Amino acid sequence: MQMSAPTLRLDAMQFFGRLASDYHAMFGITLAALRGQRILDCPSGPCSFVAEAVAAGIDAVGVDPLYIHTQAELRDRCESDIAGTIKAMSEHGDHYSSLDLITYADSKRTALYGFLADYEEGKCAGRYVAASLPLLPFADRSFDQTFSAHLLVTYSTPESGGILTNSPFTEVWHMAAITEMLRVTKHALHVYPTTTRTSPALRHPYLEHIVARLQASGEWTCRYQPSTYHRGDAAQNLLNASLVIERVA
Ligand SMILES: C[S@@+](CC[C@H](N)C(=O)[O-])C[C@H]1O[C@@H](n2cnc3c(N)ncnc32)[C@H](O)[C@@H]1O
Repeated sequence: MQMSAPTLRLDAMQFFGRLASDYHAMFGITLAALRGQRILDCPSGPCSFVAEAVAAGIDAVGVDPLYIHTQAELRDRCESDIAGTIKAMSEHGDHYSSLDLITYADSKRTALYGFLADYEEGKCAGRYVAASLPLLPFADRSFDQTFSAHLLVTYSTPESGGILTNSPFTEVWHMAAITEMLRVTKHALHVYPTTTRTSPALRHPYLEHIVARLQASGEWTCRYQPSTYHRGDAAQNLLNASLVIERVA
């Protein structure tokens, strides 16, 4: 099938975050099920996932290159990116007609302020770490599970099915980023989304190739787990799923 144009294009990465309930929808995990485990969220951005996980008694760490900035700088950057993303989505109204953009923006602000409330103390405690894929400053198998949302696949080039014009995130970069996250993970890496931003959505070609390579190595098993996360244009997306990569015991 020939790939259509992506339903959204952006010229820059967005510092834009989500709630633990969104992680539940994307990955099918509950915070209760993660108790007793060490969890990595990479990239964590201005998500409240780590703050909510820690409040639920989970040992969680978030990584993002922008964590070199202060709380006030991150607040301003995220407020501006929420406004910019909503504007870009409203200009593609036909693809996002099933999404209430005001409610959508409000949930991004709830995530932002949940994150900011934990940021200063969390940074001192080592749970917000400034780093950039494909290099993570953690020892092998430091985390039981790793969650990676809305960087891989999403910010690949429009030609491959992503949304970022002039994206540096090539297929080689995706393989290196996944290899690095697997290095620091004991049991399972979860990646979302897994489909192109085209209509209809297709499985992203980079992931298809990477899954084939990982399966062939005999060290990893890969499966797609159906997701209920709704980003407007995913309503008719029958392939809406996270990718779960598990270490063979
Ligand atoms: C749209 S946010 C996603 C945050 C969160 N996981 C979510 O689903 O809402 C993308 C994040 O990727 C971060 N980022 C950009 N380049 C990165 C890299 N090379 N390694 C790790 N994170 C990166 C950005 O700073 C931004 O916060």
